[in-house]
Amino acid sequence: MKTIKALLIEIIFICMSATLSAQDIIPAPLSRIDGKGCFVFNSETELYTNLHGKEKKLLKTYINGIIPLRNGRKAETDNTISLSVNPQDNRWKSEEGYALTVTSENISIEAKSGAGIFYGLQTLMQLSNPAGTLHSIPAVYINDEPRFPYRGLMIDVSRHFFPKSFIMKQIDMLSYYKINRLHLHLTDGGGWRIEIKKYPKLTEETAYRPESDWSKWGSRGNRKYCKKGDPDAYGGYYTQKDIKEIVKYATLHHITVIPEIEMPGHSDEVLAAYPELACKGKHSLNADLCIGNEKTFIFMENVLKEIMDLFPSEYIHVGGDEADKSAWKNCPLCQSRMQEEHLRNVDELQGYMICRIEKFLNAHGRKLLGWDEIMEGKLAPDATVMSWRGVQGGIQAASKGHHAIMTPSPYCYLDYYQDSPCTEPKAIGGYLTLEKAYSYNPIPDDMDSLTSSYIDGVQGNLWTEYVPTPEHAEHMIYPRILAVAENGWSRPSRKSWPDFYNRALAAVSFLQSKGYHPFELKDATGPRPESLKPCIHEALGMPVTYATPYNKYFAVGGNSALTDGKRGDWAFGYGGWQGFTDTGGHLDVTVDMGKSTELHDISAEFLQFFGSRLRLPTNITISISTDGQHFRDIYDKEFNTGNERYYQIMEYGWKGTATGRYIRYQASIDKQPDKWLFTDEIAINKKDGK
Ligand code: ACM
Repeated sequence: MKTIKALLIEIIFICMSATLSAQDIIPAPLSRIDGKGCFVFNSETELYTNLHGKEKKLLKTYINGIIPLRNGRKAETDNTISLSVNPQDNRWKSEEGYALTVTSENISIEAKSGAGIFYGLQTLMQLSNPAGTLHSIPAVYINDEPRFPYRGLMIDVSRHFFPKSFIMKQIDMLSYYKINRLHLHLTDGGGWRIEIKKYPKLTEETAYRPESDWSKWGSRGNRKYCKKGDPDAYGGYYTQKDIKEIVKYATLHHITVIPEIEMPGHSDEVLAAYPELACKGKHSLNADLCIGNEKTFIFMENVLKEIMDLFPSEYIHVGGDEADKSAWKNCPLCQSRMQEEHLRNVDELQGYMICRIEKFLNAHGRKLLGWDEIMEGKLAPDATVMSWRGVQGGIQAASKGHHAIMTPSPYCYLDYYQDSPCTEPKAIGGYLTLEKAYSYNPIPDDMDSLTSSYIDGVQGNLWTEYVPTPEHAEHMIYPRILAVAENGWSRPSRKSWPDFYNRALAAVSFLQSKGYHPFELKDATGPRPESLKPCIHEALGMPVTYATPYNKYFAVGGNSALTDGKRGDWAFGYGGWQGFTDTGGHLDVTVDMGKSTELHDISAEFLQFFGSRLRLPTNITISISTDGQHFRDIYDKEFNTGNERYYQIMEYGWKGTATGRYIRYQASIDKQPDKWLFTDEIAINKKDGK
């Protein structure tokens, strides 16, 4: 038996280490006052709660799973944890708000609902030492509630399938960081991933494919599916029983699972199984369902009926993104639908489908959610828009009184590289560091309060073309989803990047200790060194004329970008790199040096990203002129570098002796007019030789 003194010393020691090493909280709470001492759980600690009915049952099941607490008798007794709910408590606007009080004697969590109690418990576990348990908790008073009601993660389980166990494992950790929506992208060209009893061919014929590697599987039109038992069959799907288990587990963790059933585009696998749903009954035209054909609506409504039976979520996501629409233009059924419905173009034809599906969902008590393309044509009256092509779609939807969820790709796409592509596993392209993800504020400063009231929250999206394994998926999700969680929960005044960075470092160690595979933040390469220092050369500040225009979305510094001395970071979208995307694979710019200049070094860097459309040039021509009219080529060379590496930055240029005032730099990608050129600087007579 320990003496009282030994016990006291032990408690003091535990409390000291709790205050020294307790992880800080993610997402940062609304307010926090630290107290003295700590509460130490022991086998006598008891639980008291006034929750009842379904909420009590949920909490009990959840608690039993993680801490061995017995039902307590009274909240006032020492060594109790008291979870009390008062729906009338107006300290919080949100049902998810809570107050947590920890003293050395007791713990109390107060809330309006079971969700608030749940989040108070998550905070308690984050404060504990060791984290993620209920052991010793430093004395504290926290009053907390979320900024936004929607805080989500989307996982694409079509391009690569992830088993039920993986989904449940993520639910554990997402709820720990107060994420409350899990959006599953269940259907796409990669494979149909959910059992639909009425249409068994969906999973029998398209849930498996003979090639696991996305890039080796081939391009659209050549991709073949296979059956489960076939040699090399790769893939899988969730049975309806699996889905029920996932939904139940998520409910226990206060996470709503939102199913996404793509329509009318991204439906290659549907058309492979049921080609009669394609325009002219031909799957090969593109991946769009035929909207003129009534069978498409019968199919979709039957699928959605089964989906609604499985998922209690108010929102049903219907995709709506990136439909090609070209087959509709020559399809007699689509054309007669357009005539009958007085639809002026194929955008309106898609709008017709989305509006009709919305009516169907509404009639069943559900709401339609779709990617921002659902705003093209006609936006369904009650639809909620998920803004992914930047922020504009969400802002526009909100300004028209539609609810919007912000998931703009430059800040929320977790399939992008998070560090140097030279050290990271292959990704689709793009570049989203933790810091950039954290910098996102879903409500711009100039947004009025009515519009901002329609912004419901934020979501991180994990597309999985280049994410083949569960470990890789976790590498992409964590820690960036923690930034999404804090963007969604914490007020801007509570956010601080240096502080978050330190909390994220601790969270990475915690995640590793729990068997997750986060990106190792402490070993990050960081920005491309060249982007951190100016590129000094003689054309700095000189005017540039563009025979090929840059894309306004990739303008970076606009007309001065190519002579501003700024090198690009690892990828486009981060300053530096100016993009030429609609120029037929050409770049043609002329720098005016202002006076006749002795030239000895002219160069430009280009960025290649195979996952996106960025390619290195295959031809460079450099010409000079004294009058800006008559040019003389001083360099003209073909390159065969284009296909070598998935990711690459290459510099192309001339060295020699010449004199001229105007320098014309042309680059082209031979025979690939749909590909893009990105360059960061036309450097003339560099000073540092780099
Ligand atoms: C999307 O990234 N196509 C929604």
